[in-house]
Amino acid sequence: MEKRSWAEPYKIKMVELLKMTTREEREKAIAEAGYNTFLLRSEDVYIDLLTDSGVSAMSDRQWAGMMLGDEAYAGSRNFYHLEETIRDYYSYKFTVPTHQGRGAENILSQILIKDGDYVPGNMYFTTTRLHQELAGGTFIDIIIDEAHDPASTHPFKGNVDFHKLNNLVNDVGADKIPYVCIATCVNMAGGQPISLDNLRELRNWCDKHDIMLVHDMTRVAENAYFIQQREDGYQNKTVKEIVFEICDLTDAATMSSKKDAMVNIGGFLAMNDADLYEKACELVVVYEGLHTYGGMAGRDMEALAIGIKESVQDDHMSARIGQIAYLGRRLEEEGVPIVKPYGGHAIFLDAKAILPHIPQAQYPAQALAAALYVESGIRAMERGVVSAGRNKETGENYMPNLELVRLTIPRRVYTQAHMDVTVESVVEVMKNANEVKGLEFTYEPKMLRFFQGTFKQIG
Ligand code: F0G
Repeated sequence: MEKRSWAEPYKIKMVELLKMTTREEREKAIAEAGYNTFLLRSEDVYIDLLTDSGVSAMSDRQWAGMMLGDEAYAGSRNFYHLEETIRDYYSYKFTVPTHQGRGAENILSQILIKDGDYVPGNMYFTTTRLHQELAGGTFIDIIIDEAHDPASTHPFKGNVDFHKLNNLVNDVGADKIPYVCIATCVNMAGGQPISLDNLRELRNWCDKHDIMLVHDMTRVAENAYFIQQREDGYQNKTVKEIVFEICDLTDAATMSSKKDAMVNIGGFLAMNDADLYEKACELVVVYEGLHTYGGMAGRDMEALAIGIKESVQDDHMSARIGQIAYLGRRLEEEGVPIVKPYGGHAIFLDAKAILPHIPQAQYPAQALAAALYVESGIRAMERGVVSAGRNKETGENYMPNLELVRLTIPRRVYTQAHMDVTVESVVEVMKNANEVKGLEFTYEPKMLRFFQGTFKQIG
């Protein structure tokens, strides 16, 4: 069929009813939640753009797959289906299921990282960096500078800067670098892709220095779609082919299957090396479960195997990215400052530009997310100084260039009208921006403080 718009390749069979709230109720709810949208009750939320994680609508086929769950403790039929699917679609030979992405990060970090090691990556992710640090490593950011500039329109802001990588090797030596960790569609950069050209160069670089290449493949299908749209030579390849090619360039992967693969829970660690697999099997029984289920129920492994196949369909991906681009375009038409190009899983509001009167030390993105909730019951997420946390050596706040509010779009869940309401709400908050107050912590957890920290308004 001729392509006309990003309209969805599915229709709605069941709906989930939502509670509508008043502004007064929302003001009370956000104050009780300590101005942290993670601490709101979901019942009090109208449009939930907190995350794209575990919140997708599963298809009729995935739900049918749930009924085929083989809940045996060992050797579940669904595990073999999942393992075979990962081999066919993602290239990796061995699979160890985990309860979600961070379960895989924990096991991988414990096996590969020694005290005093350095782990370079194309920008940090919160849980990934923490597991690297808990294992004794130090994360080093090797993403291109453009990724830290919300206004840069570089088509592949997820790319690696080889000067930064070479400097690291010169400074600490290749034997202090157990692996390079590369994320596809870099979350903290605004959902920005890495190019296959850059990834291929990275593969060669890793071979030259005899360093492993690990792939955080949480949003690999979205990255593949951007490659198809933007990179020379890939226009006639399918998302499925590009996904395989990306994975095939790397040695191992951690996956949060709650995103791309559209299941509510689950993840895995996958690899080609038999020795690494053996070590992962030894550890997974300590932290997750037997190596043929890890942290997952049989039915969830079945839904995941089906979700992987659905996630790499071109029609699915053009509707997915099309919806996000629609939201981005409408916001831009209204003059809202956002990260460009539009991300693969979200549109990111530039909180520094929207609330210039709030210094970064008073958490402008946290304040903006709270204000948006009060305005219309839309729940977004801070991705700025609160998420960045503190340097483990100095105890100082990391002060990232990017001080963002993420409007994250769950897969197959919201309509175009929901996107329109979102735009209207952001515009309304912007009109009254000078009424938004800065925040200070009333409780600051030591690790991953953005999840459970609470705040009060200043002044
Ligand atoms: N890697 C990336 C790039 C992620 O975005 C996430 C989760 C993880 C790893 C960890 O996976 O949650 O299954 O343990 N991101 C979610 C988000 C939480 O909202 O961005 P997990």
